[in-house]
Amino acid sequence: MTILIINGPNLNLLGQREPSVYGYKSYRNLIQETKAYAKKKGVKLKFYQSNHEGNIIDYLQKKQATANGIIINPGALTHYSYAIRDCLSAIDLPKVEVHLSNINTREAFRKKSVIRDVVNKTIMGKGFQGYCEAIDYFIEQPS
Ligand code: DQA
Repeated sequence: MTILIINGPNLNLLGQREPSVYGYKSYRNLIQETKAYAKKKGVKLKFYQSNHEGNIIDYLQKKQATANGIIINPGALTHYSYAIRDCLSAIDLPKVEVHLSNINTREAFRKKSVIRDVVNKTIMGKGFQGYCEAIDYFIEQPS
């Protein structure tokens, strides 16, 4: 099983960025820890991070045929990108939305996710663990 893990704007700044919200671990740490978890489960991960909406869409369009599922943390694009939403909606793969923080308990603008109803599951507020739970979601699906 191969899963694409897409991270949007500013997630490359993990560790530096608002550590009280996102913690002190880096994006590199996220990749290492999540890959180690996936390896134990026999799952292959392809990570991609971009600060640009169009790059994320190009990547998803290009790589969809190589994957069995998509895990996406679109960062702030979560709250307003109908282009990311339409792209996810167009791709016939199972999808899980992940947020490190709990977007329901922060500023009002973060409560809205425009992608929530085009994904199979949303996981939030669990830090890096949320990505591992998303991997488990795919493993648990009947084939
Ligand atoms: C985030 C939450 C978003 O509101 C924010 O813009 C991010 C990260 C999270 O992982 O908690 O960039 O998606």
